Amino acid sequence: MPASSGRACTKPVPHCDDSQQAPGRLGSVNVLGIESSCDETGVALVSVAASADGDHALPVLRAQGLHTQAAMHEAYGGVVPELASRDHIRRLLPLTRQVLADAGATLAELDLIAYTRGPGLAGALLVGAGAAVALATALGRPALGVHHLEGHLLSPFLAADPPQFPFVALLVSGGHTQLMRVDDVGRYTLLGETVDDAAGEAFDKTAKLLGLGYPGGPALARLASRGDPRAFALPRPLLHSGDLDFSFSGLKTAVWTQLRKLGESPTATQRADLAASTQAAIVDVLVAKSIRALQASGLRRLVVAGGVGANCELRRRLDEATTARGCRVHYPEPALCTDNGAMIALAGAMRAQRGLVRLHCDGAFDVRPRWPLDQIEDA
Ligand code: KG4
Ligand code: ZN
Repeated sequence: MPASSGRACTKPVPHCDDSQQAPGRLGSVNVLGIESSCDETGVALVSVAASADGDHALPVLRAQGLHTQAAMHEAYGGVVPELASRDHIRRLLPLTRQVLADAGATLAELDLIAYTRGPGLAGALLVGAGAAVALATALGRPALGVHHLEGHLLSPFLAADPPQFPFVALLVSGGHTQLMRVDDVGRYTLLGETVDDAAGEAFDKTAKLLGLGYPGGPALARLASRGDPRAFALPRPLLHSGDLDFSFSGLKTAVWTQLRKLGESPTATQRADLAASTQAAIVDVLVAKSIRALQASGLRRLVVAGGVGANCELRRRLDEATTARGCRVHYPEPALCTDNGAMIALAGAMRAQRGLVRLHCDGAFDVRPRWPLDQIEDA
C-alpha cells in the first residue's frame, strides 16, 4: 500500500501542520490509540488540554482497554502470527466501544486516530492500521502511524511522576534491548543495543528451557523469587566490553548446559536457583550498562520502558544503583510496561502537541514490520 500524500481533513487537528502552528500553543486534542503489533489488542483514549502558556500540558489517560492473547498462544509456546491477526480483528471494535463508553466520550469527539505502524508482525499491524484509518476516514479525522518503541519510551509521561527531557532510555521489550539518548519527542540517538537476543527473549527462552509457560518473563521472575541468585555462575555477556551493547544469546546456551548437568529431573530448588541466577545475570548487565550510559551522556535521568521494565528485581537494582549516584529513574505505571493502547495514544498526542505529525486523511496507509527507532523520521 502506498504511503499517503495527505489531503486536507474535514476537521484537522488544530496543530497538524507544523508550518502553521508554534509548539505549545495548541488546542485540546482527544486521541484514540490502537495497538496491535503483537499479541495484545490495546485501545485507549488520551486527551491533552490546550496550553496557553507555551508549556506542553501533560496528557491524561481517560480510559483504556486491553485484551491479551497469551492464553491463546500458550499452547504453541510462542506467538502464532495468523492467530494473532484474527484475534485482533475480533477484539478491536468491541474494545473501542468499551473505551469510549468508559471515558464517557463519543466518536464525534475524537480529533486524531493513532495506530501502531511498526515494528511488529505485519498481519497484526495491518489489522490495527486498517481499522484506525477506516475509522479516521469515516469520521473525517486524520490518522497517525506511531512507532511502537516510541510509545514504550514515552509511556512514563502517563505516570504520576513523569520525567523531563533529556534522559537516557533503557528499552527492554521482547524484541528490543536498546539504550537511547532522548532529547525530546522524536529526537532519539541510539547509544547501544543488543547484537543478538533481546533481554525479553532471554527471559522467554530460559523460561521455555525450564518448562514454564508463555510469556516466560513473568513466570521466570516468579520462580526466581524463590531461588538463590548466586547458586549458578552464569556469564554476564559484554559486561566489560566498554561500550553500550548487549548480547544475551550465550546466556541461554549456558542455562541449557547447566540444566543438562542437573540431569533428567532437577529439584524444585535447583530450578528456582537457576531461574534466579539467570535473572541476576540479565539484571546485572542491564543495570551496569544503564549506569554507564548515564555517565557517558552526563545525564541524570533514566527512563525504563518495555515489558522487562515490569521486572521487580530490575527495578530494585536500578533504584539502588541510580540513587547511589544521585540519579533518578522513571518507570511507566506497571500496567503500562507491556504493550497497550495508552502508549500509542500518548505518543500520538505528544507528537500532535509539538506539530511533529504528518497526518493523512486519504484512507491510504502502510505498516513497517521492521523500523529502527533512529529512523523514525525517515518515512
Ligand atoms: O514490551 P512488550 O510487552 O512487548 C514487546 O514489544 O516485545 O515486552 C514483552 C516482553 C516479553 O519477553 C516478556 O517475557 C517480558 O517482556 N516481560 C518480563 C516481565 N513482564 C514481561 N520479563 C521479565 N520480568 C517481567 N516481570
Ligand atoms: Zn512492546
